[in-house]
Amino acid sequence: MDLITPLAPMIELGRQNDGSTDSSAFARDVAQGLGQKQKTLPSRYFYDGTGSRLFQKIMELPEYYLTRSEIEVFEQNKYEMARQFSGGGFFHLIDLGAGDALKTKILLKELSSQQSNFDYVPVDISGEAMKQLSESLQQELPQVAVEAVVGEYFQALEWLQENKSGRKVLLFLGSNIGNFETEESIDFLQSIRSYLKPGDRLLMGVDLRKNPDTILKAYDDAAGVTAAFNLNLLHRINRELDADFNVDQFCHHAIYNPLEGVMRSFIISKVAQDVHIRKANVRVHFDAWEAIHTENSYKYSLPQVAELGQKCGFAAETVFYDSRQGFADILFSVR
Ligand code: AVJ
Repeated sequence: MDLITPLAPMIELGRQNDGSTDSSAFARDVAQGLGQKQKTLPSRYFYDGTGSRLFQKIMELPEYYLTRSEIEVFEQNKYEMARQFSGGGFFHLIDLGAGDALKTKILLKELSSQQSNFDYVPVDISGEAMKQLSESLQQELPQVAVEAVVGEYFQALEWLQENKSGRKVLLFLGSNIGNFETEESIDFLQSIRSYLKPGDRLLMGVDLRKNPDTILKAYDDAAGVTAAFNLNLLHRINRELDADFNVDQFCHHAIYNPLEGVMRSFIISKVAQDVHIRKANVRVHFDAWEAIHTENSYKYSLPQVAELGQKCGFAAETVFYDSRQGFADILFSVR
């Protein structure tokens, strides 16, 4: 029989006083994005409860190689990673965009078996994902001290600045950096850098450039899970912002540009139509075959990553690969 153990602490940033989530920021961002000439919706809104579950399914798809590749990187390099993290005594292991932390758990087990002195701070925009992660860690790794944080990256960085002052190892895995445009990724890494000190580290996972056919299939799978994940954004707007999107009248479209090394995802209106988003106080017109840009997934070459790090005050120390060299986790120190 299970004993009821107290749940690990969970910090929820950006909550209203009454405990509800901040739907006004969502309404504002949706109105802003759909009010532009080229319509956009921010990809961070994919991850409500349904979206997080769909992303779990994406990670299990035969076409979506990224997660399996990064798991391989961790399985094969966990000893060396843990060793490099631990030199220097106690540290906070901060996992930005932790999700289900499948890869980080490999490291947590290794760190535990090396008797490393650390605590674990997963950060994610999905409250549901952080609740499940806290619970599963309590079952699987009860010896690890965990404090989950729910919020956006920048909110979380500010919170960390005030609340976690010791040495830090920051994880930014899963090719999450790929969601940023080039300029945004520089801003983001520079603000991460400004929060780190000499002796701190950053481990960043990037999907490397490879056969465009392989990349394209990963974002346009045969079972249609990625399409459902993308279109869930419209369902979410219907649910949370009292809108009347007829989701059947839209479709998923994904395309890879090998010049820029970017996968771009779109939601396309199949007919001319009008949508009313009541809580955002807007009506939006779509022409037939008009697109909403919903996501970028940049693919990098290794020299590009090193240069990006260099620009932002980091020095690449070690590159960990999978066996096909299709995915890399780069360990940076601060310069
Ligand atoms: C979680 C941002 C890394 O871009 O590959 C998967 C999200 N989108 N399929 C990615 C995603 C469509 C994913 N990241």
